[in-house]
Amino acid sequence: MSDKYAAKQVVRAPEAQPHLDLDKGQETQPWGTLTDLPISLGENVRAQSIETLNQVLADTITLRDMYKKHHWQVSGPTFYQLHLLFDKHYGEQNELVDTIAERISGLGGVQVAMAPDVAEMTMIRRPPKGRENPAKQITRLLEAHRHILAEAREGAKIAAESGDDGTNDLLVSELIRLHELQVWFLSEHLVSARLD
Ligand SMILES: [Fe+2]
Repeated sequence: MSDKYAAKQVVRAPEAQPHLDLDKGQETQPWGTLTDLPISLGENVRAQSIETLNQVLADTITLRDMYKKHHWQVSGPTFYQLHLLFDKHYGEQNELVDTIAERISGLGGVQVAMAPDVAEMTMIRRPPKGRENPAKQITRLLEAHRHILAEAREGAKIAAESGDDGTNDLLVSELIRLHELQVWFLSEHLVSARLD
């Protein structure tokens, strides 16, 4: 190093320094805790809805990702239409993921977000890493839809009974209606199809 640089005085601005040390600081809201938001809904009701929504969220993220897997791995004479259909449903489920996650924030909760945490929570059966034929792909998707629809119907009923109209509306108007439509579009592909 030349003398010119060694002589230079560096003045630091600690208040303006971005925090770059990941090992410093703590999470601001741990998993499973509630914050209080002025939405005139009791904390027990909100806690119940958050639990329901987190399970639905973990399963919706899994279904969404299964659509993308199938979009990439589909094969056969119906390749192009299924390639497009799977991606359309992926996009719709992705919007649903955001809606559910932000509803959990709106209730004062913490949402499951990262893949390892989702994998621990989801009730959707794990597909193999490899490729499957289109009929098997669709059957697998339908099983996931059926599972999420069952838990959403139950969750919607509980939310309605406890007075959480917002969660009930989300589950009925956005989730259930979308799933029913996607189930129809998938199911029609299985008429006269074989599983192997
Ligand atoms: Fe693509």
